[in-house]
Amino acid sequence: MRDFYKIFKNKKVLITGHTGFKGSWLTFWLLQLNARICGVSKDIPTKPSLFEALSLRKNIIDKRIDIRDLAKLKKTINNFKPDFLFHLAAQPLVKKSYDDPVNTFTSNAIGTCNVLESVKFLKKRCNVVIITSDKSYKNLEILRGYRETDLLGGFDPYSASKGCAEFIIQSYVKSFYKNKKNLRLGVARAGNVIGGGDWSDYRVIPDCLKSWSKNKTVTIRSPNSTRPWQHVLEVLKGYLILAKNLKNNKNNHGEVFNFGPKNFQNKRVIDVLNEMYEFLPNFKWNINTNKKFRESKLLKLNSTKAKKKLNWTNKLSFNETIKMTAEWYRMYYKKKNMVNFTSKQIQEFERKL
Ligand SMILES: NC(=O)c1ccc[n+]([C@@H]2O[C@H](COP(=O)([O-])OP(=O)(O)OC[C@H]3O[C@@H](n4cnc5c(N)ncnc54)[C@H](O)[C@@H]3O)[C@@H](O)[C@H]2O)c1
Repeated sequence: MRDFYKIFKNKKVLITGHTGFKGSWLTFWLLQLNARICGVSKDIPTKPSLFEALSLRKNIIDKRIDIRDLAKLKKTINNFKPDFLFHLAAQPLVKKSYDDPVNTFTSNAIGTCNVLESVKFLKKRCNVVIITSDKSYKNLEILRGYRETDLLGGFDPYSASKGCAEFIIQSYVKSFYKNKKNLRLGVARAGNVIGGGDWSDYRVIPDCLKSWSKNKTVTIRSPNSTRPWQHVLEVLKGYLILAKNLKNNKNNHGEVFNFGPKNFQNKRVIDVLNEMYEFLPNFKWNINTNKKFRESKLLKLNSTKAKKKLNWTNKLSFNETIKMTAEWYRMYYKKKNMVNFTSKQIQEFERKL
């Protein structure tokens, strides 16, 4: 853990998508590590939002930029001159990608291209971590975990857009970054994560918590589908370790890493509801299995490479993951000080590392 302080203290870190769920947790954690943050996002995607619950705006350089605007993005990145860059900005929802495929493809694929094009002009040393998804893989509906060398290419527009981003990244690494001594880049693929402060639509946990906070019954679409229930901090820890590793070790430049949950974290939605019930009084649900759009079956990740090369593993049990998530929302709706509470959750998590 002390490593993270050494690596990020007083360093300039640019985060795209810093107003989103994962981006706000990452921004908050890096602020705790005394990093200097510049965030680039087109909007605050939800109301309420973790970004506002943690009052992040006042502690960072906060830019409202659409990453499809290459000129503005290039100017911001080159003016800030980051030591590290985490690219998370994306349209991340499968359902929305069916409603608006063009926005999804342009934000996720062309937006990633614009980030890569912008950092190409940096003169100083910069370590870049690009966040894609487990959905980048071609889903062959196989049981074994997908490895980094498996085929890419998703079915729905969101998955396909992340696959496109991967091809663009590899093209940039091979065409422009191979001999650039000042740039190192790594790609992180993770699956669905949970944790406090996600209010996105079409995600099970936020849907449950939104209904619970209004004392309403939530409707569950796929009670028996298995999902990976990994805490957002586990995956962010992977991004931070990857960034640290890129800084210290040139051999991982251009490499891709899976950061998946352990097998025991793959549980059915109904198991999670039962577990949440333990922590949330009056939590109620009903089941309606009329599906409206096609979603691929569970795609498992094989994270052996991250374990071997980065020494990354999951630390939280299933029970701890659900408890941390449910307690965060319980505190939020009790109007507690979420800066203190989130900081406490991060400190407790850091003690496990
Ligand atoms: N949350 C998950 O479970 C999960 C799973 C796998 C991968 N991911 C990936 O992690 C990243 C973050 O996901 P999240 O859940 O925090 O998403 P989110 O919806 O909470 O946040 C998305 C962020 O991207 C920004 N953004 C979207 N389009 C943009 C554009 N054109 N220009 C500038 N900013 C734009 C939004 O303003 C917001 O800051 C995404 O790349 C997503 O694909 C998330």
